[in-house]
Amino acid sequence: AIRPRVLSGIQPTADSFHLGNYLGALRSWVEMQETHDAFYCVVDLHAITISHDPAQLRRRSLVAAAQLLALGLDPQRCTLFVQSQVPEHPMLSWILECHTGFGEAGRMTQFKDKSAKNERVTVGLFTYPVLQAADILLYQADAVPVGEDQRQHLELVRDLAQRFNTTYGRTFTVPSPYIVKETGTIQDLAEPARKMSKSASGPSGIIDLLEEPARIRKKIKSAVTDTGREIVYDPENKPGVSNLLTIFSTLAAVPIVELQNRYEGKGYGDLKKDLAEVVADFCAPIAERTRSYLDDQAELDKILLAGAEKAHAVAARTLAHAYERIGF
Ligand code: ADP
Ligand code: NA
Repeated sequence: AIRPRVLSGIQPTADSFHLGNYLGALRSWVEMQETHDAFYCVVDLHAITISHDPAQLRRRSLVAAAQLLALGLDPQRCTLFVQSQVPEHPMLSWILECHTGFGEAGRMTQFKDKSAKNERVTVGLFTYPVLQAADILLYQADAVPVGEDQRQHLELVRDLAQRFNTTYGRTFTVPSPYIVKETGTIQDLAEPARKMSKSASGPSGIIDLLEEPARIRKKIKSAVTDTGREIVYDPENKPGVSNLLTIFSTLAAVPIVELQNRYEGKGYGDLKKDLAEVVADFCAPIAERTRSYLDDQAELDKILLAGAEKAHAVAARTLAHAYERIGF
């Protein structure tokens, strides 16, 4: 039987992915290799929508790929590639831009957030979600594993696919977001009212997967918890403790109710002490494996080149079809 297709991307805009990226999205990437025909890309074209340094970008793209492999992506089971190595992405993006309303794009809340934070606001930052639509539609993806913050962009992608299909005849699969409810938004450790984010979180609010175990322990132990002392899952009233329970439950594969029972009558300190070990133990081998993938750059280049070739074959077919539909 033909497996459903999955596509997702991640920006190489930091020196490491963080726990929110993993729990919200990358964990699903790894799982979906087994059930889907999976395409995953390091979206370096997206990374230049904010100011960047060329040498750093090149380095971060490699670290991102190495880290994805370290997390368990297997080039035998999925197609892993770097977006800029497949020229069809910006080509389809242009076509989609010409079918996107200016007002429609202007409603994207991520653009509003990012443009408020950056002094240099480019047209590329504005059209970012349309490039994202091209990424997804080129591969005829059925499902797109992402965190909750991507829901609005995915809605735009669906609208664009449907609009194109209605106007020109069926061309694109209309994709569905795949968002895991429990882990779709991991909160900032220092400010649990907002999400963990590489651009908005301070150093004590975010845990990078490549971080030193000692620093990880320190951050978990100083995580902001809530008033009261009961360890119960209640995201509304106890966002700090609930966030810690979510992280614990997912990384240790223990249901939250079981954790609540385990820590009944105990204090936040006990929970944090154990969670610190869970997170440190989870991150240590990832950092180790990332380093070993980076040590063999020839092999890494080979994996990415093979991935780009496989991706290109699919993307070129879709683009040719779209071109024909358009009248080129
Ligand atoms: P982008 O700028 O492309 O959204 P990010 O690095 O912010 O890149 O996000 C990469 C992936 O991680 C996306 O699928 C996003 O939804 C997810 N993600 C980011 N932050 C969180 C978080 N705090 N909780 C859950 N998922 C998250
Ligand atoms: Na994001």
